[in-house]
Amino acid sequence: MRVALLANLKKNAPTWPNMSPDRWDDLDSEETIQAILEALAAGGHEATFLEGDVSLYDSLRKFKPEICFNICEGHFGNAREAVVPALLDTMRVPYTGSDVLTLALALDKPMTKRILAYHKLPTPPFQTFERVNEHLDPDMRFPLFVKPSREGTGMGVTAESIVYDEGQLRTQLRRLFDRYDQPVLAERFIDGREVTVGVVGNLASPVAWRMPENEDAPRIQRGLHFLPPLEVDMSRYPKEEAGVYTSRIKTEMAHEFHYLCPAPLPAELVEDLNWLTAATFRVTGCRDVARVDFRLDAEDGNKPYILEINPLPGLNPEYSDLCIEGKAAGWSYEYLVNRILDEAIERYDMST
Ligand SMILES: Nc1ncnc2c1ncn2[C@@H]1O[C@H](COP(=O)(O)OP(=O)(O)O)[C@@H](O)[C@H]1O
Ligand SMILES: [Mg+2]
Repeated sequence: MRVALLANLKKNAPTWPNMSPDRWDDLDSEETIQAILEALAAGGHEATFLEGDVSLYDSLRKFKPEICFNICEGHFGNAREAVVPALLDTMRVPYTGSDVLTLALALDKPMTKRILAYHKLPTPPFQTFERVNEHLDPDMRFPLFVKPSREGTGMGVTAESIVYDEGQLRTQLRRLFDRYDQPVLAERFIDGREVTVGVVGNLASPVAWRMPENEDAPRIQRGLHFLPPLEVDMSRYPKEEAGVYTSRIKTEMAHEFHYLCPAPLPAELVEDLNWLTAATFRVTGCRDVARVDFRLDAEDGNKPYILEINPLPGLNPEYSDLCIEGKAAGWSYEYLVNRILDEAIERYDMST
């Protein structure tokens, strides 16, 4: 098929004086783009990279892809990951991955948590702040974890994200408001292991976007393929990172990633994590691929808490979690990329 790989390359991103140095940390490298193009070519496709910016309208009309492999993180707006899919929907071009509503929702952590809470799925109790001096809810107990609402790749996440008192809370709020123009999320700090679960596939309809009435029904997971969980080995990072998967670890130290995959977890806990991954995928309306990040509460028998769902998980062949999980499952990078594409092709009923 003729496939357009749509992405936002870090080196093509706009710049301006005094922009925050981490502003484009979640955009893709040429290394990743090249690897995906090669994988798609090996899968028998004619693949071309198109930058997901204002030039896209013209370049799509010129290249006329049958389908797009979309990994655009977007540049601007509070739903930046949904911007390119909105154009694709408008132009009626099929694409891999989740749609506008899901991408906008999942980018916003508090909105996602409200959906999870509505479905009684375990996510740390939280409060959002729009001003430094907003009153702290009396049921929020220290320590808290304080991070931006709509960033990824650890942006704004540092050892100072853990706050132990009002003074530290206000300092961290001020720091995040100065740097990121968006509400700040304060959550209960979950002290414990850090695990992420990748999933590929699509739910058997017609029960997406909600939980089935009988939550034990096997159909909650039908159509999804879970990759082995990956645990980030926090013990191998400098003490200054305070056991948090910080922006520094995810960017500067990305090439020396310390992980355990499959994570050494009891089979029963893996089952629970897969069920929660399926439930999160389901209630947020994901398609084709996603990755759910968890923390296991050490003080409560490793009870899993959902931190977020990533409907556009990183696809760097060397160090992205999903690719490492794929390898642990015996999937080559080439297979993983083509499998995501095939899930979309099947979903659109485009297989020949
Ligand atoms: N409530 C929390 N308790 C403990 N650690 C947290 C909490 N929220 C986030 N973290 C830490 O911060 C990291 C990044 O948070 P996450 O919500 O996954 O955002 P990102 O989009 O940057 O990946 C997590 O992987 C974890 O190490
Ligand atoms: Mg995360």
